[in-house]
Amino acid sequence: MRGDGETELAESTVGSGTERAESTVGSETERAESTIGSVTEFAGSHVDSRTEPAGPEWWARAVVYQVYVRSFADSDGDGVGDLAGVRSRLGYLELLGVDAVWLSPVYPSPGVDHGYDVSDPRDVDPLFGTLDDFDGLLADARRHGIRVIIDVVPNHTSDQHEWFRAAVSAAPGSPERARYHFRGGAAPPNNWQSVFGGPAWTRVAPDDEWYLHLFAPGQPDLNWAHAEVREDLEKTLRFWCDRGVDGVRIDVAHGLAKAEGLPDDRRQPGWTVLTEDAPDPRFDQDGVHEVHRLIRGVLDRYPGRMAIGEVIVRDDARWAAYVRPDELHLAFHFGLLNCAFAADEIRECIDRTLAAAGDTPAVWTIANHDNPHPVTRYGSLERARAMALVTLALPGSAYLYNGEELGLPDVDLPDSALQDPAWRLSDGVRRGRDGCRVPLPWEGEGPGYGFTTGEPWLPMPESYGELTAADQLEDPVSTLSLYRQALELRKEHPAFRGDEVEWFGAPEGCLAFRRVGTTLVCALNTSERPVPLPPGDVLLTSAPLEANGDLPPNTAAWLA
Ligand code: GLC
Repeated sequence: MRGDGETELAESTVGSGTERAESTVGSETERAESTIGSVTEFAGSHVDSRTEPAGPEWWARAVVYQVYVRSFADSDGDGVGDLAGVRSRLGYLELLGVDAVWLSPVYPSPGVDHGYDVSDPRDVDPLFGTLDDFDGLLADARRHGIRVIIDVVPNHTSDQHEWFRAAVSAAPGSPERARYHFRGGAAPPNNWQSVFGGPAWTRVAPDDEWYLHLFAPGQPDLNWAHAEVREDLEKTLRFWCDRGVDGVRIDVAHGLAKAEGLPDDRRQPGWTVLTEDAPDPRFDQDGVHEVHRLIRGVLDRYPGRMAIGEVIVRDDARWAAYVRPDELHLAFHFGLLNCAFAADEIRECIDRTLAAAGDTPAVWTIANHDNPHPVTRYGSLERARAMALVTLALPGSAYLYNGEELGLPDVDLPDSALQDPAWRLSDGVRRGRDGCRVPLPWEGEGPGYGFTTGEPWLPMPESYGELTAADQLEDPVSTLSLYRQALELRKEHPAFRGDEVEWFGAPEGCLAFRRVGTTLVCALNTSERPVPLPPGDVLLTSAPLEANGDLPPNTAAWLA
């Protein structure tokens, strides 16, 4: 249960955030004041998905903020973020203007893949807190008008899950082993590679059977043909829905079912195969859709809840199957996330994503915990800011990754600090994903910059000291202020309607689109020279315009 001290902490955070914001924008324009006005209004309105008015479901247009819990805010000084930390920063998230948070896994876990190796899907790891902390977070989030989506990991468990421990102690051919993929033989049963690198098969003991793990050896794949595996997922979904979560993100939603008979991978095996066009016997098998129908069946019994899948499937027609009416509500299409900063490519990605999504709302994201921060990927803060405006102008929902709103770059960590299994298992071929998981700088000085009073689990560089949330809240032209203004406009301005995109002609290296049926135009300049803006009143730009009103390189603008 939450103590009084914690209540104070949560409330005082909101209080100081609001005050700070008011003083920041007091000297700004009228529009900025109205931003704050409606944030306050929003704070007062209790949101309950169970009593929502008719209209598009909340998730269709939501801006969702991914909290990588380990790296967000640490309440107890152990250097690792936790649920009480998230609770203490809800005021910040409300001020930012997001509709929901997606929490990375907080279940009991040995932490081989930082929580994506789950040993009990219906509890909270002491590292992150308790089930009471989770309930408290849910209740507080609701008071702040923020919904909560959790991460569900059905493809695999931890090797410390009671099922796998029982399987290891049991004999080959036993019912305990049937919940996973165990095979005998002198050599691995097939040539499959793990996504992180190295073979996808490990022996439980020198003379014993092999088990399948498409990720780290500590993440054995479940056998989805097994009834108990399915029943257990239903139980997990009901457990969290009963507690009141608003949605689930399905990890590796393209995994689960494996090709019948586990045949050899006939393509060039390797960890990159996940994104190749040719059929992959490890992923996107037809049998997976039965599981998604099961998930939908459970969620349909809880009004207002949703499921969003991590669906990494190149073929758009096959991708679309995951969001059929009786399957997942939404799916990530990673086109834009993998797209270079080049107008033609971006335009093509947008068209492809919209076409694939069809009648379901599109999901836009340029950042998550598996990819370099946009600043690093695009090569500059200016470009990342411009892409934020492009993403947030598109119809559908948008998913932000914590730190994106601060314009954090990836950190080039020393080898001794690296923790991601993708680094170790690829024999260092891949640097891994730690660089985008360095904790958030909130305020003050290192080593913890307000993230922790101890030593952060990944070292935070001095450069993060110039990017703290506290400083950026005070600065009207900071990246945080840009995101706040963008989210406010997206929510309140009448031009942000319409589900279709219409393209305008644009100079080479530029793009301009309109939300059909509205006046909103988004223009982006990826070329090396300034270009004239389309007609309209400028609502927001990612960088100052040229003196003559032209749109500079690496800049986007919203007009209405
Ligand atoms: C997903 C997660 C990633 C994790 C993997 C295995 O791709 O986003 O972080 O390593 O699944 O669970």
